[in-house]
Amino acid sequence: MDKLIIEGGRKLQGEINISGAKNAALPLIAATLLAPGWHVIRNVPDLRDTKTILALLESFGAVWKRDGNVLSINTEALTNLEASYDLVKTMRASILVLGPLLARMRKARVSLPGGCAIGARPIDFHLDGLSKMGARLDLEEGYVNASTGNRLSGGNIYFDIPSVTGTENILMASVLAKGVTVIKNAAREPEVGNLIDMLISMGADIEGKDTDRLIIHGVKDLRPAEVTTIPDRIETGTYMVAVGATGGEVTLRNCNPNHLPALTEKLKAAGLIIEETENSFFVSRPSKIQSVDIKTQPYPGFPTDLQAQLMALMSMANGLSVITEKIFENRFMHVAELKRMGAEIKINGNSAIVKGSKRLKGARVMATDLRASASLVVARLAAEGITEISRIYHLERGYEDMVGKLQALGANVRKEKE
Ligand code: UD1
Repeated sequence: MDKLIIEGGRKLQGEINISGAKNAALPLIAATLLAPGWHVIRNVPDLRDTKTILALLESFGAVWKRDGNVLSINTEALTNLEASYDLVKTMRASILVLGPLLARMRKARVSLPGGCAIGARPIDFHLDGLSKMGARLDLEEGYVNASTGNRLSGGNIYFDIPSVTGTENILMASVLAKGVTVIKNAAREPEVGNLIDMLISMGADIEGKDTDRLIIHGVKDLRPAEVTTIPDRIETGTYMVAVGATGGEVTLRNCNPNHLPALTEKLKAAGLIIEETENSFFVSRPSKIQSVDIKTQPYPGFPTDLQAQLMALMSMANGLSVITEKIFENRFMHVAELKRMGAEIKINGNSAIVKGSKRLKGARVMATDLRASASLVVARLAAEGITEISRIYHLERGYEDMVGKLQALGANVRKEKE
């Protein structure tokens, strides 16, 4: 296992490129299961999670090659339709193979997912939706056995809560279904829009992109796709928050400022200067950070995947901040670690009350999940002294070359074996 050694207290300065979005690349890769032939996906980040989903596709019989950040995938010969526990346990998004396998191969066996331990995170919306489309589903020894005699059929699907991967799974199932599928209360995250663009380029008929009501007219077959992964808005936001914590002046290139409306407003209110062009952000922190309150919401609200990082920033702000988590019930695992560094945080139900303190101290901390780990990096970059963050494999699931990018911005960071 690797650990990160950080000497905090340096301002971040310079420019870095933002990578393709993990949460967009995963469904795009899964969607290649819908059609035989060579698919081309550009701007794919090289991460533990993208490696996991490629290993999963390989286990089905797919072949792929990577040239820089361009992936070519061929899913012509699918000889195995079982997603094993060993592959699925490390990444919850593996459930994304269920919809496309069922739609094209009419059969799939997928282990129930693992991934970040941030709440119960059921998959009932995925299963209820597929069942409404005519799939037979049995849960057996930790696996979902799914099959359909004929093509899946269109249906009316309503999500109680707009689920991102739920919307993506049903979209991928419905494009090859017989008839019309309507998804109501669909997730509007930009990653869903990226998948819709890919599916349309493959010949799918989908109306309602970027709205919460998607109408899909099923087609008989699809052709291979050529698509570009959108920039990672969570990686972008993490570096913006890091500049807030350390001070300095940073330009983030190859990002999409339109995808971060809530974070940008909150960081401006906290005192950061943020200038945007079509595909870059310039971020600087001229003075002390002021506290702001946030509440996580589905897109375009404040993303739950940036809540932990913002909490690290608020723990060094002027004043009191209330951070309310509305998406996942157990997403405060970073609190105990931030408190070890001197942060003053009290949990009250699904809210954290954060009292900004002057400066966090360097203390040894342990990464617990992907975004919690990012919040510890943000806190450590600003704290005094040298310390370690252990178990950084969580970070490597979702941040491409974080060490290299932070070094490029002048941070004193290195990776070592534990
Ligand atoms: C995706 C993202 C994750 C992000 C989350 C919320 C990917 C690969 N992961 O996760 O990084 O934190 O969106 O923006 O894109 N729910 C159910 N039943 C279901 C499905 C979801 O009750 O079948 C609930 C969840 O417990 C949660 C809410 O719906 O409270 C939203 O979760 P969802 O959007 O599904 O999260 P993921 O798609 O797993």
